[in-house]
Amino acid sequence: MTTQKDRTVIVTGAAQGIGFAIAQSFIDNGDFVAIFDLNLEAAEEAATKLGHAKGFQVNVANEESVKTAIDQLIAERGTVDVLVNNAGLQYISPVEDFPVEKWDLLNDVMLKGPFLTIKHVIPTMKKQQKGRIINISSAHGRMPDAYKSAYCAAKYGVVGLSDVTALETAKHGITCNVIMPGPVRTELIEKQLPKLAEQDGTTVEEALNHHILGKQWMKRLLEPSEIGATAVFLASDGAAAITGESIGVTGGA
Ligand SMILES: NC(=O)c1ccc[n+]([C@@H]2O[C@H](COP(=O)([O-])OP(=O)(O)OC[C@H]3O[C@@H](n4cnc5c(N)ncnc54)[C@H](O)[C@@H]3O)[C@@H](O)[C@H]2O)c1
Repeated sequence: MTTQKDRTVIVTGAAQGIGFAIAQSFIDNGDFVAIFDLNLEAAEEAATKLGHAKGFQVNVANEESVKTAIDQLIAERGTVDVLVNNAGLQYISPVEDFPVEKWDLLNDVMLKGPFLTIKHVIPTMKKQQKGRIINISSAHGRMPDAYKSAYCAAKYGVVGLSDVTALETAKHGITCNVIMPGPVRTELIEKQLPKLAEQDGTTVEEALNHHILGKQWMKRLLEPSEIGATAVFLASDGAAAITGESIGVTGGA
């Protein structure tokens, strides 16, 4: 089975980190990527680096912002073939001290965000009776970690959203799957280590081993491109029968 080239792919949060690597993998596959990111300057810089790409300023937690960008993209490119929900952030705190506004922010970006983008791409995917939706959850979408109540709630929640989406769209040639990455070498990991160390009263290295690598079989940070490769596979014609699945790319855990 050959996969069509020059598809229109949305990757949210693709100005940096895993999203950028996912975008790179689709570009290497011959596709066009729309980078939906809160940070327009970084999104445009990323698009210039990637080549066949364009940056859009989008707050995935805001319906108007999501709808406007998707409408503009469809006006320019005709349709959306692939949607990758990747935008995310972390906040570390024991549950009893967790600020409500941080709870709302994490769940708005990582659970409501995927709901909004899915809601607004489905009509065009249904029209062409074909589409691929890939949601980036986390190993913490099936396994808890201390101080990450909002993150885990959103990442477990996105599995439910994906399964319902897969069920509702299966008859329309659309698949919806989840990737659950383990620890990937990005800013998101680097930024949380000092906070984890402070909460536990340990060194940053001890926090890395205890919270991040201690439970992982390969004992290494994953490369962002390893998540990109899985996303491209799930969006390929060869993966047409894979839907409603959650696939760990964890290094074992
Ligand atoms: N890094 C890891 O080890 C790891 C592991 C498992 C899962 N993940 C998940 O992978 C995804 C990407 O993580 P990363 O490490 O590359 O993070 P990152 O912090 O490097 O990048 C996140 C991107 O999302 C964008 N973003 C944040 N809020 C947004 C919003 N409201 N609207 C649009 N864009 C927004 C940021 O501007 C940034 O470009 C996240 O969903 C994260 O939870 C990461």
